[in-house]
Amino acid sequence: MNILAIESSCDETSAAVLADGHIRSNIIATQLIHEKYGGVVPELASRAHQQHILPVVERALLDAKVSKNELNAVAFTRGPGLLGSLLVGASFAKALALGLNIPLIEVNHMQAHVLAHFLESPAPSFPFLCLTVSGGHTQLVRIDGPLAMTVIGQTQDDAVGEAFDKSAKLLGLPYPGGPLIDKYAKTGNPLAFRFPMGDMPNLDFSFSGIKTAIMYFLRDNTKTNPDFIQERLPDICASIQHTLVQMLLTKLKRAASETGIRDIAIAGGVSANSVLRSMLLQLGNELGWHVFIPKFEYCTDNAAMIAIAAQFKYEQGDFTDQLVSPLPRMSF
Ligand code: KG4
Ligand code: ZN
Repeated sequence: MNILAIESSCDETSAAVLADGHIRSNIIATQLIHEKYGGVVPELASRAHQQHILPVVERALLDAKVSKNELNAVAFTRGPGLLGSLLVGASFAKALALGLNIPLIEVNHMQAHVLAHFLESPAPSFPFLCLTVSGGHTQLVRIDGPLAMTVIGQTQDDAVGEAFDKSAKLLGLPYPGGPLIDKYAKTGNPLAFRFPMGDMPNLDFSFSGIKTAIMYFLRDNTKTNPDFIQERLPDICASIQHTLVQMLLTKLKRAASETGIRDIAIAGGVSANSVLRSMLLQLGNELGWHVFIPKFEYCTDNAAMIAIAAQFKYEQGDFTDQLVSPLPRMSF
């Protein structure tokens, strides 16, 4: 059974082939054009998807040694994401499925981030909790089955990836700044500076307060020393990262204790963060959790996760018709 999956929700054009339950290829074309604008420019993203989609799909099929005629289904990300970007992937997938006369499968991008855990073994067992952290989302999800997920907590304002990226921008670093904060923090002291963590009740998050606090902190310090950022970059990055990771782990701990669930996973672009990964492992050791952290390439946006989500849907005969259109604000 061969599934071709396409991901185009934001600034990565990706195609993957899942053959008999195994990923045979996972091609990702990253759009570097946004770097100089300090964030993804939607119009440029859709144009770049248009340029990339055909070569990316062809490469994925070639690497997998699967021809178009051997495909059993075509899957695509229906949402959430940028409308123009989603349209490129959705239109391509619809046309291909129609031309080949095979089923079309729509996938929710956030559910796919969670299901990326089933690309590797051992996979978590149900029920498990997943902290899904990306540039657009910060969610605590309870997963009772492959397609039975409930959001039990989420951000009320910015996503944590956005907090990383916006902090990086204030430090003069290019987009996406998350990986750069991670890099510069390696030689810094995480306790050099303190930022307010705030406290949302229940399992929800808020990252707008810390962003403002960082802005004032940098403004005040550069007033007295214009070279402050340059001189203290590692310490600043390490302190910001430490605060953001603590905010995430505090809620994850609360969710685990409230639900009694001990299989704990992370997913999404920010789960590539080295300190989040190591502190989660440490916390898991202390609290007796089974911790699941995806392989690096399955953390950030990729089509392999769309393919595995599509396989679960294929097994249940959950197909989409040709009238489907993208849903930029698609919920679970
Ligand atoms: O899941 P993803 O690839 O795209 C979205 O669906 O948003 O996540 C991208 C986000 C960006 O905000 C990026 O800065 C962040 O993930 N990110 C990181 C790291 N690698 C990627 N944030 C912190 N540390 C990292 N190592
Ligand atoms: Zn994502």
